[in-house]
Amino acid sequence: MKTLEQDFIENKSKILIPEDSIRGRVRGLSQEIINHYQWLDKELIVVGLMDGASVFLSDLIRLLPFKIKLYFITLKTYLGKNKIKDGTIDTCKEFSDDFCNSIQDNNALIVDDILDTGESINTISEAIKIFDPKTLKTVVLLNKKIEAQKKAKADFIGFNIPDKFVVGFGMDYNGYYRNLPDIRIIE
Ligand code: IMP
Ligand code: MG
Repeated sequence: MKTLEQDFIENKSKILIPEDSIRGRVRGLSQEIINHYQWLDKELIVVGLMDGASVFLSDLIRLLPFKIKLYFITLKTYLGKNKIKDGTIDTCKEFSDDFCNSIQDNNALIVDDILDTGESINTISEAIKIFDPKTLKTVVLLNKKIEAQKKAKADFIGFNIPDKFVVGFGMDYNGYYRNLPDIRIIE
């Protein structure tokens, strides 16, 4: 008897990026980030976009040897495979006073799982800029190649991938498959 997860892995999806490659690239990305912030004299304020960035973020921050303060912001852009129309961003937790004070005159790094249209990162960057960070950078594990022009770019990119819907390593389809260790394309 196959588990539902085995059935998905064997019959309903195919691997795009295996676990080992992700691990290696996350280490490479952490090195790029460390090199970039060599001059860092203040804290690094890490802003993780939930829920997709959770797995990537937890691996990444443990490789960064800085004094880090971590915040989570919740954004929702997909229902199943379909983008939510009108108000692409469904929920954006209000920023606390503590968050605004931490950002001001500090170095902020936004972490997300995947950059698609750039709408999410653009929205969150613009919101954060209001609180006057000293610097603001973005890191994404995946960057989707799309025809249309993106609304935002990332400063650090793990992998460029084709315009396919992917799951695993934190990314979901209707809330499922975030726990898969590899990144997979649904078939
Ligand atoms: P954007 O705002 O169009 O750049 O979309 C980025 C957000 O949509 C990411 O934070 C993901 O949560 C989600 N997303 C985009 N593409 C995928 C995908 O292929 N699988 C799962 N989530 C995705
Ligand atoms: Mg997301």
